[in-house]
Amino acid sequence: MSVVLIGMMGVGKTTLGRQAAASIHYRFVDLDHEVEEIAGAKVARIFEEEGEDSFRELETLALTRLQGMKGIVLGAGGGAPLKEGNIELMREIGPIIFLRASMETLEARLSNSKRKRPLLEGGNLDVKLSKLYDERKEIYARADFTIDVDLMPRLEVIEQIAKVAQGRSQ
Ligand code: S3P
Repeated sequence: MSVVLIGMMGVGKTTLGRQAAASIHYRFVDLDHEVEEIAGAKVARIFEEEGEDSFRELETLALTRLQGMKGIVLGAGGGAPLKEGNIELMREIGPIIFLRASMETLEARLSNSKRKRPLLEGGNLDVKLSKLYDERKEIYARADFTIDVDLMPRLEVIEQIAKVAQGRSQ
């Protein structure tokens, strides 16, 4: 089995996913990293030089290349489920978990993050985040499972992800 993590930037898809994968000897795959491999360029540069649409095309291509992969925990970029067909491509890889957090949690994490996020550059972080979340929440709700990371102890979140990845949930 495999599992796919979706949710807003800063929710912890990478850190939680990496730890869940390690706990069951699965491989953690970061979709942004896959895109960077394909493009031979960093996410920020792809946005800058090719624009968001090209980046989204690359996400779809990366998801296509991951089809059939077993034993992975995939952390998808926050906008990856938006493009038509991507949710279906994700579900072919494994069940989808939406990691949900409050705006306060996301803001706190993002203001300490070293990762460059082109969609949050300039302007007011909370305004940008809320707008993105409003546009995305219905799509995130299409996940098979939702975990509220604010409400559950971190170790339990990791355990839940690992369980779903192994097909042991519910
Ligand atoms: C994006 C999220 C980022 C990255 C890109 C766009 C988004 O990934 O794919 O900056 O549209 O939400 P993370 O969610 O891993 O930060």
